[in-house]
This record gives sequence, structure tokens and C-alpha cells, in this order.
Amino acid sequence: MSVALLEARGLGVTFRRGRRRVEALSEVGIAIGRGESVGIVGESGSGKTTLARVLLGLQEATAGDVLLEGRSIGDWLRRDRAAFRRRVQMVFQDPYGSLNPRLSIGSALAEVLRVHRLVHRGEEAAAVAELLRSVGLDSRYADRFPHEFSGGQRQRVGIARALATRPEVLIADEPVSALDVSVQAQVLNLLRDLQRERGLTLLLIAHDLAAVRYVCDRVVVMHEGRVVEAGESAQVLDRPVHPYTKGLLAAVPELGEFA
Ligand SMILES: Nc1ncnc2c1ncn2[C@@H]1O[C@H](COP(=O)(O)OP(=O)(O)OP(=O)(O)O)[C@@H](O)[C@H]1O
Ligand SMILES: [Mg+2]
Repeated sequence: MSVALLEARGLGVTFRRGRRRVEALSEVGIAIGRGESVGIVGESGSGKTTLARVLLGLQEATAGDVLLEGRSIGDWLRRDRAAFRRRVQMVFQDPYGSLNPRLSIGSALAEVLRVHRLVHRGEEAAAVAELLRSVGLDSRYADRFPHEFSGGQRQRVGIARALATRPEVLIADEPVSALDVSVQAQVLNLLRDLQRERGLTLLLIAHDLAAVRYVCDRVVVMHEGRVVEAGESAQVLDRPVHPYTKGLLAAVPELGEFA
């Protein structure tokens, strides 16, 4: 049996809120193969972001483990933190919050390349231009600042920054939900194309079930911190078994078109 590239095993996360304990994740198990695209859906508060943060090593689990290539995340972060950070990258819902407003886009991307020592000094500008082109932006935009971009363009920059380290895994937490509906499909198309062309392993967290169906091979449905249903996207979204998934689907007024 082949080892999953990224795996969650019996994950649990408990938060304390005063005297109350919130079980944000309970016994979550997910195995993602190399090159697979997996969608995570579930209502607000079901634990999607917490799961993403644990998989990225930004939040410690209170039970279970995360494995990259079969090796525990704790071990990665202790001994090969930089490699883990390079290999598993994230795309945020709001890239604006994570972009330095005083830094040009080119400088921001160059900084990532420099921190991870990915290119020689003399090759930085060309690498930045290539990154911009790979997300459908004009390479001349390198001199511009975050506020000069539209929401959709800014998310493209966010994706370029994630791609800068040439990651194997991309975790995108609601990457289009802050964008105008008119550009959501374009950004989803970009993620989908990048995933297929580069054989990226993609974890896409989304409210929009149609988006997941369009982008992802498989879908995992979460409810109150647990995985209640998982399987091929078409299977789960066309013929849901769990009552919660049925409810989730019934709540969608109409499925949008992406192609
Ligand atoms: N840092 C924290 N401290 C306390 N409770 C938290 C913390 N982060 C998340 N929670 C709680 O954990 C549960 C899961 O939250 P999470 O943000 O993972 O849900 P989500 O599925 O991403 O929701 P949304 O769709 O709104 O983004 C919620 O009850 C939330 O209030
Ligand atoms: Mg969330």
C-alpha cells in the first residue's frame, strides 16, 4: 500500500472558552494521495479552518497526528521545519491581510524566494516574472503595491506567493469567498488548472459545493468537528448518504456554473 502524501489520523482539537470546552475537531481521519484534490465542506463552525491550521502545523492537535509522507508533523517541525514550510503551502481567504502594504508585489515574492534560498540573486527578477505569469498576471505588475490590485488579482498574487516555494501541497481556505462572484470562477479555474498541470495536491475548503464539485476529485463533509461523509465528489454531492450532507445540499438554492 502506498503512503498518503498528507494524512490526518484521529485528529482532535479542543479549545477552552472560559469553563467551556469546544471540541473543534474529533477523531478526524483523512488520507490524501499525491496529486489528488480534496474538498472540505461543512457549515460555519464545523472545524474546517481548524483542520487546515493543524495540517499546516499552525495549530497543535490535542489528539492524533498529522503525517507528511508518513512522518509525523512534530518531527518535521523539529528537524526539517523549513522543508515542511516549503512543501506545504497555504492560500488565505483574504490575501490582503497577509500582504505587506508597503512592499511591492515583486519584492514580496522575491522575499519568499530569498528566505527559502530558491534562486540565485541574479535570477530573482526572472523568477518573480515567471511566478506572476503562472497565475495569469502581467509580469510588469511586479512594481505595483497590493492596494493597486483588484480582489481577484490580489488572490492571484496570494497564489503566486504560495507557489513560490514550489510546494507539493496547497491548502486553500475559502480562497474565493471574499471575492466578487464574477471573479470567483476565474480564480477557481486557476487553482484547478495549476493543480492538474503541476500535479499539486490540493485541499480546498469551500462553502460552495458546486465549486468543490468542479475542482475536486474527492470531498470530505464535516459537521461539528467530525467527518460525516467522504468519497468521490460526484458520488457524495449527487447521491449523499448522510442526512447532514443531504441538508447541506438542500440548502443550496442553485448550483453555479464554472466551466
Ligand atoms: N482559537 C480558538 N479559540 C476558541 N475556539 C475556537 C478557536 N478557533 C476556532 N474555535 C472554535 O472551533 C470551532 C470550529 O471553528 P473553525 O473556525 O475551524 O470552523 P470553520 O468550519 O472554519 O467555520 P467557517 O466556515 O465559519 O470558517 C468553532 O466552534 C469555533 O468557534
Ligand atoms: Mg473557516
